[in-house]
Amino acid sequence: MTITLQFQPVGDGDVEEVVALWARCGLTRPWNNAAKDMAFARAGANSDVLMARLDGDVAASVMVGHDGHRGSVYYVSVEPALQGRGFGRQTMAAAEAWLNERGVWKLNLLLRADNAKVRGFYEAMGYEVEPRLCMARKLTEKGRAQSLHSAAAAGKPQPPSRKPG
Ligand SMILES: CC(C)(COP(=O)(O)OP(=O)(O)OC[C@H]1O[C@@H](n2cnc3c(N)ncnc32)[C@H](O)[C@@H]1OP(=O)(O)O)[C@@H](O)C(=O)NCCC(=O)NCCS
Repeated sequence: MTITLQFQPVGDGDVEEVVALWARCGLTRPWNNAAKDMAFARAGANSDVLMARLDGDVAASVMVGHDGHRGSVYYVSVEPALQGRGFGRQTMAAAEAWLNERGVWKLNLLLRADNAKVRGFYEAMGYEVEPRLCMARKLTEKGRAQSLHSAAAAGKPQPPSRKPG
């Protein structure tokens, strides 16, 4: 018998359990503050974190949002003991429905290179690899300094320095 999960937005009382699920699923990294990510997504007008419970425990979760053009998902997670039962597919369907309801017609997702094993999961959902180069830059003072340092090390032209006055 297929169990249909009921997805709903994460509430204040669910936060710790959902972050713990992300950790059990190997999705947290020491340099990312998952609780901060959660708070930021829940507070955003164009983003949310969805979750579903099974027998009272958190079974699945996904962070979903859009930038006014494309949708994206992060922290796609199914409780390890419950994987392989179709809940991952239901989790993606919940995220896609959330986006559809807001008029978003395309979802782009990024896989960490060290998690290429889930590529088959997304392919089973109908996702395809598109030839795009993903570029990123940290928008913090430290990140700016680091990226300018890398550009200098690579012999790339530097932006003009700002002189006072
Ligand atoms: C990825 C994840 C969400 C999949 O959840 P799941 O409940 O096991 O997935 P489902 O049972 O719904 O599988 C759906 C389909 O994907 C396929 N699939 C699942 N994992 C797969 C994998 N690693 N490789 C290939 N196919 C896979 C299943 O065979 C199934 O195909 P079918 O419907 O045609 O039979 C789950 O394994 C997970 O939480 N992993 C750890 C966290 C993670 O890596 N998330 C992705 C971050 S990018």
